[in-house]
Amino acid sequence: MSGSSISGFSRLTKKEKIDWIVNAYGGGDEKMTDILSQYELSEDSLQKLHDGFSENTISNFILPMGIAPNFLIDGIYYAVPMVIEESSVVAAASSAAKFWQTRGGFHTEIVSTYKVGHISFRWKGDMASIDRYEAELTADLIKHTAHLTANMEKRGGGLRDLRFLKVDELTDIYQLMARFETCDSMGANFINTILEAYASCLEIWFESKAELYDTFGPIQVIISILSNYTPECIARAWVECPIAELDISRQGDEDIRSLAEKFKTAVDIAKADVFRATTHNKGIYNGIDAVVIATGNDFRAIEASGHAYASRTGRYSSLSECRIENEHFYFGLEVPLALGTVGGLTSLHPLARVSLELLGKPNAETLMSIVASVGLAQNFAALRSLVTTGIQKGHMKMHLQNILSHLQASESQRELATTYFADKTISHKAVRDFLNEVDKL
Ligand code: MEV
Repeated sequence: MSGSSISGFSRLTKKEKIDWIVNAYGGGDEKMTDILSQYELSEDSLQKLHDGFSENTISNFILPMGIAPNFLIDGIYYAVPMVIEESSVVAAASSAAKFWQTRGGFHTEIVSTYKVGHISFRWKGDMASIDRYEAELTADLIKHTAHLTANMEKRGGGLRDLRFLKVDELTDIYQLMARFETCDSMGANFINTILEAYASCLEIWFESKAELYDTFGPIQVIISILSNYTPECIARAWVECPIAELDISRQGDEDIRSLAEKFKTAVDIAKADVFRATTHNKGIYNGIDAVVIATGNDFRAIEASGHAYASRTGRYSSLSECRIENEHFYFGLEVPLALGTVGGLTSLHPLARVSLELLGKPNAETLMSIVASVGLAQNFAALRSLVTTGIQKGHMKMHLQNILSHLQASESQRELATTYFADKTISHKAVRDFLNEVDKL
């Protein structure tokens, strides 16, 4: 056995935690301690706030926050905050936004905003018995949780419907599926609280119903939890223009129509092939996640739902689609986005609050529109590069700056290198050799 174990790690002070981890797993390297401390915030209350977002904290892992301006979405301009560590994502989103602002911008539609949760339980009974008592049972659940749903109802949300299901693949396993409207909150806490309350009520109700209990016995609740799959919380975003205006050529010598066809074929390939679809959708989530993180939302939930949605036909496929009809180009995206603009980290993280303020304090539906548009912009930018110059050109330009930072290049070295590598292949070695040559001058 190797490595070290410890009990009571969570009770150590932050300094003790750092000392332990650096000694046990970092070879006692003092530089490691220095780096961890460097990222500690100087303002105590702010640091405490961040420590409170997680547990066993030893430092802060900072990600860059950038702005993609010129997003014209449903006739309103946005400068979109994006938190992402991959170079060229913000630049690509900005460039797509700029391209589409003169072609009508992004259009969006919120298809629906329901979220769901399930109580899964074991029971020896049958669906016919549940059907017989369904109305009585659901009324009982609603009555006993009225105090928990009252506030959400005042905001226009709450429970929308309840349905019992049999899980066909499993013996004796049933589900109560609940659909909710959670307005401007993501709703995870609300939904989970209600589901757990339903679960207790269900157990009591089944025990109290002698005619069922005597024949089938009690129910055993297995789990009660919201689903992150939200196929009824959907945003659509699209861009469109006459083919003649789709000047996506980077070299200026390619025919617009044949490039448009190439673009559409690239989307069709992502529709047909899971390998391409995964990368294609990853590019979409480059944009979506960056805004989701900047606004304090849960990017794991958003991604999980999106990839499940991309498989809804039984085959994982592209989330976006492209059509060319009557000399008109259409490119759109349909994506599940269970986002919130109140509650949780959206209100607690000061930078999430700033992001939401910069976006004009949107409600959840407007944020869904913005996020879907950025996902589509990202996809557009990636495909435009892929069908024209390839992505390495843009990528490498940004990558050059990272290599220069890594090699601790001075401002003047940076300028020289940027000019020199404008039309050359960039590699770590090539940049290092170039800087060595410059040093000799
Ligand atoms: C890189 O992060 C994302 C892309 O690979 C997406 C795509 O291929 O469509 C450029």
